[in-house]
Amino acid sequence: MTSSNKKTRFTALITGASAGIGRDYASYLAARDYDLVLTARRTDRLEALASELTAAFGVKVTVLTADLVAPEAPTALAATLKKKRIQIDYLVNNAGYSVPGLFEQASWRAQSDMIQVMATAVTEFCHIFAPQMAARGHGRIVNVASVAAFLPGTKGGTLYSPIKAFVMRLSQSLALEYKEHGVHVIALCPGFTWSEFHDVAGNRNAMNKLPNFVWLEGPRVVDDAHRAVENGKGPVIVNGWIYRLLTSFLKIMPENLMSKFSGRGTRNRVVKKSDQAPRAKTAQPASKKPAAKKPVAKKPVAKKVVRKKPTAKNS
Ligand SMILES: NC(=O)c1ccc[n+]([C@@H]2O[C@H](COP(=O)([O-])OP(=O)(O)OC[C@H]3O[C@@H](n4cnc5c(N)ncnc54)[C@H](OP(=O)(O)O)[C@@H]3O)[C@@H](O)[C@H]2O)c1
Repeated sequence: MTSSNKKTRFTALITGASAGIGRDYASYLAARDYDLVLTARRTDRLEALASELTAAFGVKVTVLTADLVAPEAPTALAATLKKKRIQIDYLVNNAGYSVPGLFEQASWRAQSDMIQVMATAVTEFCHIFAPQMAARGHGRIVNVASVAAFLPGTKGGTLYSPIKAFVMRLSQSLALEYKEHGVHVIALCPGFTWSEFHDVAGNRNAMNKLPNFVWLEGPRVVDDAHRAVENGKGPVIVNGWIYRLLTSFLKIMPENLMSKFSGRGTRNRVVKKSDQAPRAKTAQPASKKPAAKKPVAKKPVAKKVVRKKPTAKNS
């Protein structure tokens, strides 16, 4: 269904709209006549996309730059929207990244920032906009989780699976709570998808060794999400047959057996030198499928974790 088929025009807020899945979501909804509010840290990227979409589809696009690491970002953004008299009918909680390496290789700041961006801000945006949608009797919320939500904890990339599992469970609860108010909520669970995600994580070289069939295209992922949320499907949407098969298998496997398998390798072993800012704020070229075989990012050297020998006192 397009926005203009309805009595009023609808507006979608998309977080992480400067790249990857968020950018694809913006293009998809603009083509269906939704007005947009785009947010991320890189204003230049957002403004270029806004101009492109307005020129192509004649939709209204508002750019609100925000770093979701800041705890006040969701309320500040909501206050700006209120001032501008923009109501949100469709929320896409998409911004995200992974912090590579073992738990103690990343600072607490890097770990807590990840929780803030990918769990707390996601929850707060739902808390702000779901009641407003419910009061109007119509709303759509797409929380971008991952197939990682189905995995047991991994060795390395420690918080990613737990955070995505949280996003999935949160979406299930909200779907139940808001269904009767006309607000559809889904957790979108893609597998590996072409975007800048693995460039930011610094593991593009390793990821490029994976076969083509494991990779999903962003526009396809977005189409699955939109169809599902429009039609009240879900609340958990897994993209692609290969990942539907994998997640069905994971559901029937005993937890401890799964843990044994996932403990064999170290996920996202590399550690970036600066774990404070997971991405440079300046524009960088998007990594897309054709570049797959070429190394995009230099592999940073993993910081060695020096463990103290246990003493009689602490052993
Ligand atoms: N790609 C995959 O294989 C894959 C698989 C499963 C799930 N996912 C999930 O899909 C979502 C989108 O990822 P993607 O693959 O599209 O990655 P991407 O191309 O790297 O895009 C990530 C987006 O998040 C934004 N972002 C990152 N940190 C932010 C912050 N502190 N404040 C505000 N915005 C921030 C980035 O914008 P700025 O840098 O401009 O701020 C960017 O727009 C994530 O939640 C990810 O976990 C991805």
